[in-house]
Amino acid sequence: MYVQIFDKKEEACQASFELFKEELDANPQAVFGLATGSTPEVLYQLLSESDLDFSQATGLNLDEYFGLTADHPQSYAFFMQDHLYKNKPFKNKYIPDGSNPDVNIETARYNKIIADHPVDLQILGIGANAHIGFNEPGTSFDSKTHLVDLTDSTIQANKRFFESEDEVPTQAYSMGIQSIMQAKKIILMAFGPTKAKAVRDMIEGPVTEDVPASILQKHPHVYLFIDKEAASLLNN
Ligand code: GLP
Repeated sequence: MYVQIFDKKEEACQASFELFKEELDANPQAVFGLATGSTPEVLYQLLSESDLDFSQATGLNLDEYFGLTADHPQSYAFFMQDHLYKNKPFKNKYIPDGSNPDVNIETARYNKIIADHPVDLQILGIGANAHIGFNEPGTSFDSKTHLVDLTDSTIQANKRFFESEDEVPTQAYSMGIQSIMQAKKIILMAFGPTKAKAVRDMIEGPVTEDVPASILQKHPHVYLFIDKEAASLLNN
């Protein structure tokens, strides 16, 4: 794992931006694995304001709330449209369909999309409990797309985006850990003190399904771009 600690999250997002640019320059048809949440917001702003041309590229998202339609303001489909796609048209945009109640059909559909579009560069955030995508602690490292029961800590962390806790979906579709690990390169960004324990466990702890992000220790091309607060519990 290549770890770089920045004073500010803006600098970390600039470093991520440079890797996106490099990937796109090398292959205009590259497949970008995309994440939602607060962490990549500045990166998406930099991409939006740039002159990069994603019109031949593919965007493939990690996860989506179960039960929300793409036009729901808190859906991840809406987030992607609002933060990136409205400014940067991509050739293909994929995200699990949270409004599909048939779990078998939806997970099979998304697994086929992932198989047909191997990810060149994946961007990840991390949950305070070290989840990646919505793969909560205990998820099998062999998992593919699946329906997840969100943990209480994830619901608590994400309720800030909703009017009340009752409105936060309790389930989500998520790309599995096996699929995330198949990306050729991965960038994980983490900012702020609430991520410090997850970052330490991910980098310095054992590789265990109790700490989903710890599997990244086994990936050959991972960049961890974190700020000082998120790095504050690291021993080395
Ligand atoms: C969310 C998302 C993840 C994200 C993580 C951190 O629940 N499913 O993809 O990386 O939790 O979110 P944030 O960046 O808002 O801290």
